[in-house]
Amino acid sequence: MRHLLGTEGLDVDTATAVLDTADELKRTLLGREVRKLPTLRGRTVVTLFYENSTRTRVSFEIAGKWMSADVVNVSASSSSVGKGESLRDTALTLAAAGADCVVVRHPASGAAHRLACWLEDNGTSVVNAGDGTHEHPTQALLDAATLRERLGGLTGRRVAIVGDVLHSRVARSNVHLLTTLGAEVVLVAPPTLLPVGVGEWPVTVSHQLDAELPAVDAVMMLRVQAERMHGGFFPSAREYSISYGLSQARQRLLPEHAVVLHPGPMLRGMEIASSVADAASAAITEQVRNGVHVRMAVLYHLLAGDNTADAADAATAQRAHGGEA
Ligand code: CP
Repeated sequence: MRHLLGTEGLDVDTATAVLDTADELKRTLLGREVRKLPTLRGRTVVTLFYENSTRTRVSFEIAGKWMSADVVNVSASSSSVGKGESLRDTALTLAAAGADCVVVRHPASGAAHRLACWLEDNGTSVVNAGDGTHEHPTQALLDAATLRERLGGLTGRRVAIVGDVLHSRVARSNVHLLTTLGAEVVLVAPPTLLPVGVGEWPVTVSHQLDAELPAVDAVMMLRVQAERMHGGFFPSAREYSISYGLSQARQRLLPEHAVVLHPGPMLRGMEIASSVADAASAAITEQVRNGVHVRMAVLYHLLAGDNTADAADAATAQRAHGGEA
């Protein structure tokens, strides 16, 4: 893998290899006092964030550090971007400074692809950590890892993705990845929060959350992306919550085994009731935990090679030697 720009076009073998590597890394690090592998020693990972983030930025930093990479965090607000430097010049500067991988979040859809084009000759890998309303591939991979863990697999499983699909890069990446991995996806949203052309996506569409919940294996609640809304997409937060919020009463409609996901940050009380977010059926903190292992696996496949067995061997060798990095 040269870059990870999206899950559209990510083939089943590559996606499965990344998820298998993440599982192996998780098993290897479980219960260890020192969570440090030497795998990416000497490699430099730069996170370049033009939008706010807690989970993605922090977990990429931890992932890199647990694999012994040097990790440098650049936020647009405190960099020369504030002096008017372009994305291209910023990317070329980071590559010239020695970045082996740039993890980028940007408000413009397509920004990560542009970066990858500009860095094509430098040998620097690019990971899309969220570009506008387009894609957020590592979020989808960590969601898939969590669902595999909870449900034992994705083939034939039915997943409802609920809420602001229109503005959600998480929804797009999940539609591509979940369907590639054999799951069925139903999008549940008001008509105003569905994109034009959704009829061509490999999904079914519903506006009735109550009708869908009894038949799903997982429900993924989306964040309402107020910062991307320029207009009234629903009458009020209260009405949105009544129709599309995952309340305690709605949770009772789910099958007992069903998993509740949310990419975060959550609007408790609007998108999801606090009691539901904190219930045992919710996997929201597991998603964050798995995000570290998935991002370790992505960095591994980009910077150390595509062989899952190698990652497993390196990890196992570490285990055998007591974990010294
Ligand atoms: N899910 C997600 O991308 O969260 P952050 O914005 O906190 O990174």
